[in-house]
Amino acid sequence: MLKTHTCGVLNLTNVGDVVTLAGWVNRRRDHGGLIFIDLRDRFGITQVTVDSEQAPLAHAVADQARSEYVLQVKGQVTARPEGLRNPNLSTGAIELIAEEVVILNTAKNPPFYIASGMSSSGDDVDEMLRLKYRYLDIRRPRMAQNLLLRHRIVRFIREFFSDRDFIEVETPVLLKSTPEGARDFIVPSRLQPGEFYALPQSPQQLKQLLMVAGIERYFQIARCFRDEDLRADRQPEFTQLDLEMSFADANDICAIIEAMLIELSVLIAPHKPIQTLPFPVISYADAVEYYGIDRPDLRFGQPLFNVSDLAAASDFAVFRKAVEAGGLVKGVVYPGASALSRREIDELTDFVKQYGAKGLVWIGISDEPDAAGLFAPESLRSQVTKFFTPAEIQTIFERSGAAVGDLILLVADRAAVVNPCLANLRLEIGRRARLIDPNLLAYCWVVDFPLLEYNEEEKRWQAVHHPFTSARDEDWERLESDPGSVLAKAYDVILNGWEIGGGSIRIHRSDLQDRLFARLGLTSEQTESQFGHLLEAFQYGAPPHGGIALGLDRLVAMFAEASTIRDVIAFPKTAAGTDLMLDSPCAVTEAQLAELHIALRPAKR
Ligand code: AMO
Ligand code: AMP
Repeated sequence: MLKTHTCGVLNLTNVGDVVTLAGWVNRRRDHGGLIFIDLRDRFGITQVTVDSEQAPLAHAVADQARSEYVLQVKGQVTARPEGLRNPNLSTGAIELIAEEVVILNTAKNPPFYIASGMSSSGDDVDEMLRLKYRYLDIRRPRMAQNLLLRHRIVRFIREFFSDRDFIEVETPVLLKSTPEGARDFIVPSRLQPGEFYALPQSPQQLKQLLMVAGIERYFQIARCFRDEDLRADRQPEFTQLDLEMSFADANDICAIIEAMLIELSVLIAPHKPIQTLPFPVISYADAVEYYGIDRPDLRFGQPLFNVSDLAAASDFAVFRKAVEAGGLVKGVVYPGASALSRREIDELTDFVKQYGAKGLVWIGISDEPDAAGLFAPESLRSQVTKFFTPAEIQTIFERSGAAVGDLILLVADRAAVVNPCLANLRLEIGRRARLIDPNLLAYCWVVDFPLLEYNEEEKRWQAVHHPFTSARDEDWERLESDPGSVLAKAYDVILNGWEIGGGSIRIHRSDLQDRLFARLGLTSEQTESQFGHLLEAFQYGAPPHGGIALGLDRLVAMFAEASTIRDVIAFPKTAAGTDLMLDSPCAVTEAQLAELHIALRPAKR
């Protein structure tokens, strides 16, 4: 090694040792006869002092060093005088008095400042620039720490499951379409003209085939590929902790994942309490009713409340018509906000309009109701009190659970508008009123998802999860007669409002799988060409099985407190699906296309 120690380990116990360090110039201060260099490597920073009288040759070399030059320094570890020690640095009690300095490489002036303190975040630099020079971004402490965190999490996961008889099996990346609800990336075959592989959206079918193969307990840190529109928590290629078990029911699978997440949380974030143990289990129907969404953030309260029954009979046309048209009227309470300014109320109205609401009804409660529970007009502040009877206001107040000083907010519309609007409004209230403790880990399970949903555009039923998910035993009989009421043996695991994983018990009998495919409107030719291998395999003694996949990038991002999964991926894509560092995707040569039997159509822009 070109170094005897890292830049992060030397302390007072090393005083007197002659050592060699190597790393990058984090900062260089020239005091004439004395040059101070903060030398950085992945492990820390050590101050190097080069004295022109003691080491004239070393001083001449150090004189040429600039930021990000790569240096090797040999010298003696010396205690710093008491007053000059730096308690923020692991090596802050010592300095290295240089005897020899070698420039191992020079460096261009970097496009952004790398030498921030070891705890600073990378957010001060434009993300596009960070992505173009990702190798410099990773040289900064924030990204390096995130990659280290990711490594520790993956290592823990591998050991946890290996210790419990799971084995990691690699599955191919050049595959065939595996429907998970997104678009496939496809790869042309040179050897089979005109034919294509698809990259796996997940190893779903392969892990089920491994169960038929008798592996019983499989896991994989697996790369998945989905051609979908990107967001902060979505990348076109991402990583799953993928898992499958035979002879297990949903409770067994959830229990092992829950145990893993608890142990992982304690290891990685010992200062962050888990809000509720065991993890709360919420039905999909309740999640939507009380939080407007199937991935509730349970770190704070403010559940939604429903006044559709009252609205149907009210004089307020906006509410009555919404319910008559099959919609809902639901609300949420903004605590302590009864005296919010008109400007702030308008901001909230604009906020819900982003999500499709036509307006927002607000009722501020400024004083107690009378003994009969009714409010005097001057106790309320609202644009619509004149449309409601005192008894109706009383019911809204009681249902909402509001207190004096709170602001009640209501939206009327179709369920598909009301729920997402209020889910987002609830989160916004949580942020504005500082109801969210950033240190809490609020895990929960969401269960009892519908098996199927109706696709209005294509006029057919489709799988909510994927078409291998089993219905609950008692629900199979309604698959044909009342498909919308059939619930699935599916479960999602949520952390602080992020869906970090999802899975299900699978159909392991080919007759039931055939029935489901028929319900999805697939012809026998279609099922044969897409899933023939699976249906055939099921005829050779498929064991009952099920599994789950966790979004590893999301899990790491939660522990890294990153607002996007890009910050926990070494080389991510932009929102436009491009790699700014490698400049991909890019055109290929005519010769490459010809070899693949491909002719390009003019691109539609
Ligand atoms: P699902 O599609 O729910 O299930 O994916 C499992 C988890 O993967 C994460 N995830 C993503 N993370 C980053 N970018 C993406 N584009 C992305 N898409 C999904 C989420 C999600 O919860 N085969 C099934 C699992 C099973 O049934 O066992 C599957 O892939 O955190
Ligand atoms: P309008 O009758 O459209 O003038 O609306 C009266 C008030 O009700 C306005 O303050 C709107 O913001 C509010 N409002 C209108 N439509 C809705 C709706 N669908 N849900 C909740 N509030 C609404």
